[in-house]
Amino acid sequence: MKVLVTGGNGFVGRRLVERLLQDDCLLAGEPVTALTVADMSCAGLPADERLRCVEGSIADTEVLQQAVADEPQIVFHLASIPGGAAEKNFQLGLDVNLTATVNLYEACRQFAVPARMVFTSTIAVYGSPMPDVVDDQSALQPHISYGYQKLATELLLQDYSRRGFIDGRIVRLPGIVARPPQPSGLLSAFMSDMFWQLKAGEPFVCPVSEEGVAWYMSVPCCVENLIHAANISPGAIAPRRDFTLPVLRLTMRQVIDGLAQRYGEDRQQLVSFEPNPQLQAGFASQPPLVADAALAIGFRHDGDIQTLIERATSL
Ligand SMILES: NC(=O)c1ccc[n+]([C@@H]2O[C@H](COP(=O)([O-])OP(=O)(O)OC[C@H]3O[C@@H](n4cnc5c(N)ncnc54)[C@H](O)[C@@H]3O)[C@@H](O)[C@H]2O)c1
Repeated sequence: MKVLVTGGNGFVGRRLVERLLQDDCLLAGEPVTALTVADMSCAGLPADERLRCVEGSIADTEVLQQAVADEPQIVFHLASIPGGAAEKNFQLGLDVNLTATVNLYEACRQFAVPARMVFTSTIAVYGSPMPDVVDDQSALQPHISYGYQKLATELLLQDYSRRGFIDGRIVRLPGIVARPPQPSGLLSAFMSDMFWQLKAGEPFVCPVSEEGVAWYMSVPCCVENLIHAANISPGAIAPRRDFTLPVLRLTMRQVIDGLAQRYGEDRQQLVSFEPNPQLQAGFASQPPLVADAALAIGFRHDGDIQTLIERATSL
């Protein structure tokens, strides 16, 4: 199948493109188009004749038209302005997370055959503080622009799907680890930094308390869940199209102990705690998650902490 990945050179997108090319996953000989912003060219993606790169902003209608020119049967829509950056720059978040996403839906509406679209939403749609338990009936009440923009485009994808214009599949991602250490605009970057710094034997100042508890998924597990979302048959997906992925819910202490078990007990001495109330509330106060709808349709978490750590720190 012809596949488009927007945000194809991002943290998750790059791993997804690699996985699609490897073993011809989903493609069956057809091409994959990666849409990447101009300053993050396709240079980091595998050299492969099946890979077509479109560089530029998804907010530019000409670039968008180029990206969808071959009417892909599967669209993974990952391009996004992250929470911290969208909070700092409202217009940029609105242009990319909302307007360009709707433009993508509109472009797909013109296809002869409706595309399957896997849309990566976020647990930020639940807002902060979260309810005591999050489940499939929990209210969606974001507290930051990124969450509102994701929720608005979730709802619109539901409507485009109801009308048969697109076959949408919405997956709400938890904190995906471990993002390579580089400026990302993500408030949650510390969750990934902890993995790399302790793996490398470097000191880590944890900006939340050791009892702080968060939802985790490794990037390989996330990629498998995105591919699973694309593989669900149209008959099985409706009427529910939004899934909060199952997670491993772990305290900082559990993650640090797990990293020490894997990389050496001396890692314990490398960690100090300087809790920041905003990060503690946003990323280290996550209640139990009951992801029954996602589990029932075949989405999975990493299984156990050592598997999470091994996958998260594999390149
Ligand atoms: N990583 C996480 O922990 C996490 C958690 C929840 C949701 N998500 C969602 O998953 C998706 C992928 O996340 P990620 O971690 O890979 O994010 P990322 O920031 O690493 O990648 C996003 C990609 O979008 C691209 N992009 C931004 N503006 C663009 C534009 N105008 N035109 C074209 N491309 C543009 C960026 O260049 C980047 O390659 C995003 O939609 C994100 O909102 C991620």
